[in-house]
Amino acid sequence: MIASDALRKVRRELFIPETIWVPVEGTGWYRPLRRADDPAGWRAEVESDRSVITQVDDGATERGVWPTSSSSASHIMATMLDGLRILPGMRVLEIGTGTGYNAALLAEMAGAENVTTIEIDTSLAKHAQASLERAGYPVTVVSGDGVEGHWPGAPYDRIIVTAAVAEVPYAWVEQTRAGGIIIAPWVASFHPDEPLLTLEVKPDGTAEGRFGSPAWFMPMRGRRLPQHIIRATDERWAAAGRPEASRYGVTVTPETQTIWLDTPTNPQSEGMS
Ligand SMILES: C[S@@+](CC[C@H](N)C(=O)[O-])C[C@H]1O[C@@H](n2cnc3c(N)ncnc32)[C@H](O)[C@@H]1O
Repeated sequence: MIASDALRKVRRELFIPETIWVPVEGTGWYRPLRRADDPAGWRAEVESDRSVITQVDDGATERGVWPTSSSSASHIMATMLDGLRILPGMRVLEIGTGTGYNAALLAEMAGAENVTTIEIDTSLAKHAQASLERAGYPVTVVSGDGVEGHWPGAPYDRIIVTAAVAEVPYAWVEQTRAGGIIIAPWVASFHPDEPLLTLEVKPDGTAEGRFGSPAWFMPMRGRRLPQHIIRATDERWAAAGRPEASRYGVTVTPETQTIWLDTPTNPQSEGMS
């Protein structure tokens, strides 16, 4: 099944909480939009193909600055789901359950019994689990830090990460079968577009892949990039002649991960994983 078919089958509104968050123009703040107060406004947001912010500042109730959970924009979800090339019966791990909506789409594509999803925020995990059960998708919802992956469900054929990372924890590679695919959005640590990474796991336990279209996901909790790193990224990228994101790739080994330009023999940065 392709993503557009799954998106047609699963109703997003079943997963969106009664309170969502919308920007207050010209302020940098978000305010709550409660379904009971403004049903038409709530529905317009939920039926749009934009992302719907479902939590700010880890659970603020009156106003907030940082979106900390959302239902992602449908075109980004479709790009990621189609990039995974999911077949029925494949075992899939999602990191960042959020509302549970993407987990429902994964369930349509792979079978609910093959999908595990991890959410770091316990209250969001509970809400998502209830929504998934109500909607008829008995996927496994785990409350915990997705950085560790989830060994009890491994090995996976596919891992999809729905919060932006600055590195691929080696646990994700270890928990994926050879030939399996990991898709993750990247923070602006080397390219300002925050591109999507598609990584293939190799039989020798390393993984390699390239970056693609911009994704703009919120970062993994506790891993927001400081402004000076974002500025330094812009400067380094401009000095390199502003290469397209698709010219970059990354190689992950148990000890290191290296971002390269054009070929793995042209490393741009190396960090410990
Ligand atoms: C963009 S939202 C996910 C959207 C979700 N897939 C959906 O369909 O609604 C990102 C989510 O990742 C969660 N998250 C952030 N860091 C995490 C971590 N280390 N482990 C697991 N979940 C994490 C956030 O709490 C948030 O709910």
